[in-house]
Amino acid sequence: PRTPCIHPSILNADFANLARELSRISTADAVHVDVMDNHFVPNLTMGLPVVESLRKATDLPMDIHLMIEDPDQWAPQYAELGCESVTFHAEAAKAPVRLARELHARGTKAAMALKPATGIDQYLDMLGELDMVLLMTVEPGFGGQAFLDLVLPKIRRARRAVDDLGGEIAIQIDGGVNAETILRAAEAGADTFVAGSAVYSAEDPDAAIADLRGLLTG
Ligand code: DX5
Ligand code: ZN
Repeated sequence: PRTPCIHPSILNADFANLARELSRISTADAVHVDVMDNHFVPNLTMGLPVVESLRKATDLPMDIHLMIEDPDQWAPQYAELGCESVTFHAEAAKAPVRLARELHARGTKAAMALKPATGIDQYLDMLGELDMVLLMTVEPGFGGQAFLDLVLPKIRRARRAVDDLGGEIAIQIDGGVNAETILRAAEAGADTFVAGSAVYSAEDPDAAIADLRGLLTG
């Protein structure tokens, strides 16, 4: 299996001091950036100009999570900023296969996210088009919500499907990840863990990352 990765979400960071907040997660594998448009989800965060500035403010790879309508139009523009990966939602994409290929054509990893109640079976045939699948473990929109155990069976199904394809595709989870929940998700087959409040509510975010890593590696 892949080495576990921790991607802190800056959603619960201090938005007036984002560059400084990025410097507090220097040991992260990537920074998870939540883009919300107040249409796909009932919350609004940032768009292309802020993400472009964040890109210049850190050497960390950027994992962009687009919680927006019309990702077919917008996601390629995020890819062009030089982000490591761009994740669009299955529920919002009109042509997910074409979109994944357009992201690859721009040199970015392509990922697709599923809300907690969205089934994975209808997407298994296109898994090979993706570098990562994101299984939301809360309803997207806000940090600080409780981890939904009902997603665990979907993580297991994703793990089996990914292993059948050779195990290269990352399985990311996002929402309610903390020291109490991370092992359940890891045992089900997740390998990439987004953690927002668990990292940024800590006195020392890098220490919180180390604690989560320690749980995963035993
Ligand atoms: C929620 C976002 C998450 C959020 C997670 O819709 O996609 O990335 O920051 O926050 P926590 O870890 O606090 O649940
Ligand atoms: Zn997210």
